Amino acid sequence: MRGRIPDTFIDELLSRVDIVDVIERRVPLKKAGREWTACCPFHNERSPSFYVSPAKQFFHCFGCGAHGSAIKFLMDYDRLEFPDAVEELAQSVGLKVPYEGGRDNAPREDKTDLYALLDGSARWYENQLPHSPEAQAYCKKRGLDADTIARFRIGWAPAGFDGVLKALGTDAKRMQLLNDAGMVASNERGNKYDRFRERLMFPILDRRGRVIAFGGRVLQSEQGPKYLNSPETALFHKGRELFALWQVKQANSSLARIVVVEGYMDVIAMHQAGLPIAVATLGTATTPDHTEVLFRAAPDVVFCFDGDRAGRAAAWKALEAALPRLRDGRQAYFLFLPDGEDPDTLIRKEGKQGFEQRLKNATPLSEYFFGELAHDVDVGSIDGRARLAERARPLIARLPDGAFRDLMAQELERRTGARAVLQPDAAARRPAQQPVAVQRSLVRSAIALLLAQPGMADQVERPYGFLRLDKPGIELLAELIDLARSRPGINPVVLVEHFAERPEYSALQKLMAATVVGEPELQRVEFFDALQRMQQQATEQRRAFLIARSREGTLDGAEKAELRELLALRVQPPATSN
Ligand code: UTP
Ligand code: MN
Repeated sequence: MRGRIPDTFIDELLSRVDIVDVIERRVPLKKAGREWTACCPFHNERSPSFYVSPAKQFFHCFGCGAHGSAIKFLMDYDRLEFPDAVEELAQSVGLKVPYEGGRDNAPREDKTDLYALLDGSARWYENQLPHSPEAQAYCKKRGLDADTIARFRIGWAPAGFDGVLKALGTDAKRMQLLNDAGMVASNERGNKYDRFRERLMFPILDRRGRVIAFGGRVLQSEQGPKYLNSPETALFHKGRELFALWQVKQANSSLARIVVVEGYMDVIAMHQAGLPIAVATLGTATTPDHTEVLFRAAPDVVFCFDGDRAGRAAAWKALEAALPRLRDGRQAYFLFLPDGEDPDTLIRKEGKQGFEQRLKNATPLSEYFFGELAHDVDVGSIDGRARLAERARPLIARLPDGAFRDLMAQELERRTGARAVLQPDAAARRPAQQPVAVQRSLVRSAIALLLAQPGMADQVERPYGFLRLDKPGIELLAELIDLARSRPGINPVVLVEHFAERPEYSALQKLMAATVVGEPELQRVEFFDALQRMQQQATEQRRAFLIARSREGTLDGAEKAELRELLALRVQPPATSN
């Protein structure tokens, strides 16, 4: 079992990765001064209020308040859990994640064993394939070459009820895991047996290439349902996963277009034919979650369906799922295939070029949208136009605020003369927040400045004269300085991450995100000036306190001496250092 990931490793990881790289690979960034900016990926907006700071290794959205480190970004954007986000980042810089403690303090829902078991199952099926002449013959008949079989890890689940059970369910715990992974079924008497038997097996991988489920195809159609998929498990949620997304990502470092087809074999045929840009939903309708994943993979998404009734219905479902995700810069297309064909048969007939030509000619969403809504209305009549407007309005309203929605509304008006009355969505109505103007108390300024350049802590001498100042945040400032001194070269995010479990964390994140104006040299001057003024304030505070006590006549000898000293200080010119 996985244990706890030590803080020191998180520190090292965050100092190795560059948040700009991490985000840029997912959201195109534009340079803006010393920072990078984009329209926020976490809410809809027309003008960018999302900032990435290379110096602070931190992202912040002034519109919706999303902020954090590279790890936090991956958690939010790729919807990963903390350890998975850490694994992903570590992999990208070639680090291995150490785990401490093992099972005792391992998180309860540790899924490592489940992944390992599913991977073992996939390997077992792969190894069975060469032993089955009938499965081999079927692969040959379907035109699958050895490279494709390996790339998709296609395997064979042999006949019998306990192949996987015997091979992998070697003890009670592993039996339970097989059960949790959806690999076994049980009859009324509670006897367990292999879910997949006599089927060609297609492992379903998650976006990190781990096996999370299977689809299995019978060789002859009379042997029960053609495809059997794993049930929903802790790892497998049909509504979120796409078959072959991993292979698509492996084959393309950047992707202009991704194609969604209906079947496993369609995907595989396209990859084999030299178009490794195809994915499939897993026997379910396209969900909004799917479309979000698709648009994150590529700005253009082509939905490819059979031209029959079922295909048309599925396409409309996909359109509805895509609407709320169609931010500016994202485009959806629809491609309907001739009757009786699917991408698998078609690409074998027409080749890569033929299929690419079809992709190029795919129908843009706007055209499909109005065509479909108007297909049974007479737009020559007022009634017909009114009906079209009624159908279109609620759908257009589901588009995120942006230029595309404006254009769709204009198009509706052009076609019907009716306006699409659109309520801008809540996020867009809210006035864009300005960069947080941090309340400039002296202490807060000093902290913000220190977070801009933790290296300045090296030049702060102990004992800290400002520590005597009785103001909120003073202790925290001292703690930050201590930490920064003990860790030369520490970057601001790492510094702040040390406070992750503390109540001050969110305040520190805000201070780190606050734009500290000025050039580094000026910031330095400001920082030391702030420290000095705090020290003066501390002296004044102490003097006022002692004077008050002397009026009450309660000063002891040492205090009297101290007060004399402090009073003498006042007439001297201010100290020039510390
Ligand atoms: P198809 O029957 O169109 O798949 O079903 P296909 O890939 O073209 O199959 P081949 O070419 O006959 O091998 C499309 C998808 O619907 C799901 C599967 O995900 C399949 O790939 N499906 C289909 C099921 O889940 N169960 C079924 O019984 C049939
Ligand atoms: Mn097919």
